[in-house]
Amino acid sequence: MTKQYNVAILGATGAVGTRMIEQLQMELDHIPVKGIKLLASKRSAGKVLEFNGQPVTVEEATPDSFDGVDIVLSSAGGSVSKKLLPEAVKRGAVCVDNTSAFRMEPDVPLVVPEVNPQELANHHGIIANPNCSTIQMVMALKPIYDHFGLNQVIVSTYQAAGGAGQSAIDELLTESQDYINGEDMQKDAKILPTKGDKKHYPLAFNLLPQIDVLEDSGYSHEEWKMIHETKKILLNDMDASAIKVTATCVRVPVPISHGESVYVTVDDRDATADDIKRVVADFPGVVLQDDIKHQLYPQPLTATGKRETFVGRIRPDYENPGAFNMWIVADDLLKGAAWNTVENAETMVEQGLI
Ligand code: A2P
Repeated sequence: MTKQYNVAILGATGAVGTRMIEQLQMELDHIPVKGIKLLASKRSAGKVLEFNGQPVTVEEATPDSFDGVDIVLSSAGGSVSKKLLPEAVKRGAVCVDNTSAFRMEPDVPLVVPEVNPQELANHHGIIANPNCSTIQMVMALKPIYDHFGLNQVIVSTYQAAGGAGQSAIDELLTESQDYINGEDMQKDAKILPTKGDKKHYPLAFNLLPQIDVLEDSGYSHEEWKMIHETKKILLNDMDASAIKVTATCVRVPVPISHGESVYVTVDDRDATADDIKRVVADFPGVVLQDDIKHQLYPQPLTATGKRETFVGRIRPDYENPGAFNMWIVADDLLKGAAWNTVENAETMVEQGLI
């Protein structure tokens, strides 16, 4: 008989959690679900959501919530993961965590299933989902690295509000309405650039070059994550120097789907833009949208709601052989979060790891 699983979604009421519910529902042929628990904070306990056409009451997440649970899909913030996931592991569950809580721990696999699925076998109960901006970037970098070698990556991000949760999307929309009504936007700036910091700025009609906290190094923590997660995923070492990576992360007034301008230098100086396009287009989960004659290129509006990573505007740096520019867009809440989490769980089920 096919194995069936008890699944818990931690953070089920959030921007990512609600999408985890949707994505899991679409994969029931691959992850047979026996029972589902929808967990959130005390505030949401008693709220009724739906799973597979059935009403499910949201419960407050406590350590005992994980009794009898086989798989946890989690996106309720780093501190909640730190507190509750070890409790879930103690009770025998395997957790795929979308927060940054465990990503840099050496014995926690950091996995994008198309890129480094072999790492899943090394788990000790927790698998980390990379940061949303890292995931979509490594989807394009992996085939380039495999075919042409990768020397350096310079990325500037154009990140949507949704990466900071549903309340950040709501804040952007309220501020936009304020602006149109001729009202003060500052009064509604309560979350961005980042919840825990002292100052908050409007994102509507603005750009914020701060995602997560600013560190003494001069980089934001988001930039730090992109650098070290990329190395851990591609080279299995968060501090590896074989690929140099640097990042500038910017929040833009877009509700959902991140854009990234990425500049790469490859080892194979003879590689052409057509070669790069070919290997990127062949990579599973990537869609090449690159036809300048017909003005075809990836955009947040067209990527939103899709699982794929879209790549376009691939062009050589004519002043530097072996160097290329490209533009990458993906739904940060799906491939960047909910879908990658469900896909990791599904890959483990397929590999017999759960
Ligand atoms: P709640 O809706 O009850 O606050 P987002 O990323 O969109 O901000 O969503 C965060 C998710 O994490 C929500 O589901 C939220 O639940 C949940 N969450 C926040 N704090 C806790 C907590 N202390 N315990 C469990 N879930 C939490």
